[in-house]
Amino acid sequence: MKALVLSGGKGTRLKPLTNTMAKQLLPVANKPILFYVLDQVMEAGITDIGIIISPETGEWVKQAVGNGSRWNTEITYIRQDEPLGLAHAVKTAKDFLDDSPFLMFLGDNLIHGGVKSFVDEFRKHKPDALVLLKEVADPRLFGVAELDKSGKIVRLVEKPKEPKSNLALVGVYLFTPEIHRAIDQIKPSWRGELEITDAIQKLFDMGNDIRSHILQGWWLDTGKKDDLLEANRVVLDDLLQRSIRGEVDSKSQLHGRVEIGEGTKVENSIIRGPVSIAEKCLIKDSHISPFTSIASGSRIECSYIEHSVILDDCRVCNIERLSDSIIGRNTEVIKHEGGIRAVQLFIGDDARVEL
Ligand code: DAU
Repeated sequence: MKALVLSGGKGTRLKPLTNTMAKQLLPVANKPILFYVLDQVMEAGITDIGIIISPETGEWVKQAVGNGSRWNTEITYIRQDEPLGLAHAVKTAKDFLDDSPFLMFLGDNLIHGGVKSFVDEFRKHKPDALVLLKEVADPRLFGVAELDKSGKIVRLVEKPKEPKSNLALVGVYLFTPEIHRAIDQIKPSWRGELEITDAIQKLFDMGNDIRSHILQGWWLDTGKKDDLLEANRVVLDDLLQRSIRGEVDSKSQLHGRVEIGEGTKVENSIIRGPVSIAEKCLIKDSHISPFTSIASGSRIECSYIEHSVILDDCRVCNIERLSDSIIGRNTEVIKHEGGIRAVQLFIGDDARVEL
């Protein structure tokens, strides 16, 4: 069994962060989303892993994941020249996949509890495809499955305007090589992509056995800003353990599940978990409230931060209340005390400032 992890695409909905970073490398609780995916693939006992990368962000993915030694495995990188759809990515990986059954995992999806039980179910029952479904509030944003009364899939539609159910296709699929024959028979959709949803529908029309499983735990698709903040909240809430490896002075208080990385200093500050602070940060005269992650090398001084994600090497200074925010790497957010009452900005393309 092999795994195909999709880490290509353009990440348009997460600009400007994705101008300089692959969207699958954005951190959730200070760990890249793609690393959770690779952890879960390994946990399922699959060691032959191919990663789809794009010409624009592929080098960053390669740099972060490297040769796979962190997971004790070897990674094959497969370049997809254009993001022409999930089924197109499978087509691009045909040489790597060969005639093997495989797990396909979208590199920006996070699933509670991993995928091992689904891989085991697929191995045991040997269907031609196994898909995961999850009830969602707005199915129009996803691939949607229609089931009959016995719970069998009868139809799959990609981003339907009038969905027939609230069951979305989760970005985790298991296939036999039959899927390649189905992909060969589909045409690009209205958005110009070869849709994996259409390929699975074709597989069904060809008389193959499609199994589905409705997910009970959380599923996070980190496509937009609010999704990323929500993923950070859920993962901190569910998975974070208390671990203090930095220095906390006697004037500071840490409450609940707080993670402080090596080389980080906390001075005269209050931190209420769940909060993750990575290595080599300084938190001084500040208050860090729940559901905040601060990446390595950042300095927070005289500020209050809640429900936010701060990336590496940032400086936040004299900010009374920073809330529901994502701050890209190497950024300064500073309020000058007693200065002119004006907003002075020096921000890059595609940025968004809400005051
Ligand atoms: O997240 C689940 C949804 O994922 C499913 O419900 C949909 O049926 C499925 O089509 C997909 O929809 P999205 O529109 O959210 O897919 P997105 O374009 O965001 O791509 C998903 C991941 O795959 C992302 O990490 C980028 C990568 N990708 C995407 C395309 C189109 C590639 O590697 N190559 C591609 O050509």
